[in-house]
Amino acid sequence: MRIAMIGTGYVGLVSGTCFSDFGHDVVCVDRDAAKIARLTAGEVPIFEPGLEALLAKNVAAGRLTFTTDLAQAVDGAEAVFIAVGTPTRRGDGHADLTYVMDAAAEIGRALTGYAVVVTKSTVPVGTNRKVAEAIIAANPQAQFDVASNPEFLREGAAIDDFMHPDRVVVGVESDRAKKVMAELYRPLSLREFPMVYTGLESAEMIKYAANAFLATKITFINEIAALCERVGADVKAVSKGIGMDGRIGDKFLHAGPGYGGSCFPKDTKALARIGQEHAMPMQIVETVIKVNEEMKRRMIDKIVDLCDGSVRDKTIAILGVTFKPNTDDMRDAPSLTIIPALVGAGARVRVTDPQGRHEGEALLPGVKWMENPYQAASGADLLVLLTEWNEFRGLDLTKLARKMATPQMADLRNIYDRGEVLEAGFTRYGGVGR
Ligand code: UDX
Repeated sequence: MRIAMIGTGYVGLVSGTCFSDFGHDVVCVDRDAAKIARLTAGEVPIFEPGLEALLAKNVAAGRLTFTTDLAQAVDGAEAVFIAVGTPTRRGDGHADLTYVMDAAAEIGRALTGYAVVVTKSTVPVGTNRKVAEAIIAANPQAQFDVASNPEFLREGAAIDDFMHPDRVVVGVESDRAKKVMAELYRPLSLREFPMVYTGLESAEMIKYAANAFLATKITFINEIAALCERVGADVKAVSKGIGMDGRIGDKFLHAGPGYGGSCFPKDTKALARIGQEHAMPMQIVETVIKVNEEMKRRMIDKIVDLCDGSVRDKTIAILGVTFKPNTDDMRDAPSLTIIPALVGAGARVRVTDPQGRHEGEALLPGVKWMENPYQAASGADLLVLLTEWNEFRGLDLTKLARKMATPQMADLRNIYDRGEVLEAGFTRYGGVGR
């Protein structure tokens, strides 16, 4: 099948590359000529394990190409995916649909034969119908159907998530479009995984509900963690104990510094807005957004407490700044709240991250970037473990403790146990919820 993928951001690039690996003929489109030139040369602008190799393989096979020419890509395509950004609009928390609607009109003008126009971007309920209207307005003769096909892939595990999904959600309203969608994903169904066909609005809603539910689950355990600290319980034991109940499930119950990333913060805010707009306030989601912000502030208090009430002139070594491991993405990372607060309070902050420096340098003024945890810890008064990169899971704690001026650790991902940290020579250990 021939596919046009509009937008080479995270979702577009991963989906386009994976579809081409299925054997489809994929043309990825972006307005950014420099980006297209880099991609054509096989250079991947984001850090995602496995993506560069898969992209190179399919470019070499001639199934994956890149262009700035949307009309050329759309001409003859059986499926046209809209995978452009839907950032939070400044001021009102709405998802900004400018890019989606611009793409829809442009696709409308470029359509020559029948195609399914598939929205992969996360969009408010009702957007697919607006996309259809925009296409008709641009080209009243256009032959097309719209489909909603939300993406559930996680950064850092995107290829695997795309190739082995728990389910593929498709909102469609015609049999012809359903057939095209089934054909697109046919290579996956060989491996027996469920396609969930719904109406357009339900598919749009599934994406928001899934992300909001997961954000709620994380925030719930983070709040339980805060109470665990007061009553002397260990949240890790509590997570394990509740997670073994099949109705609850053990995933997404790791207490930490609060969720971040490109999806949960944006999608929870958008869902709250949709609720307000329809006079059906999403009270739980609104509370989750508020509590998640409080969680990040709590981490600052925890760090200040470990520094005996003030971080002024203290040297603090931060391990990890990206919102999670295996990505260079800094969007809404807890580090962006925590580190500036420490710098503002007069701390000398040193930072190390396997991939975060490229983006982080501009976002975190006033910090010193170090090559590795040992260099960062040298002479420091507190070590803060902020992102659970694998590189930070097997640290030589004794060596670290020896290098520090005051060997203390704030383990905001609960990677280590108090006992082993103290035994290695640290004088204090603070986890989350323990
Ligand atoms: C998420 C969804 O998982 C994915 O389905 C959707 O398509 C996009 O949003 P992503 O943002 O890449 O994916 O990362 P994810 O692994 O879900 O983590 C999100 C945030 O939650 C991170 O900040 C992470 O540290 C945090 N988290 C996750 C926790 O604090 N505890 C957990 O138990 C799980």
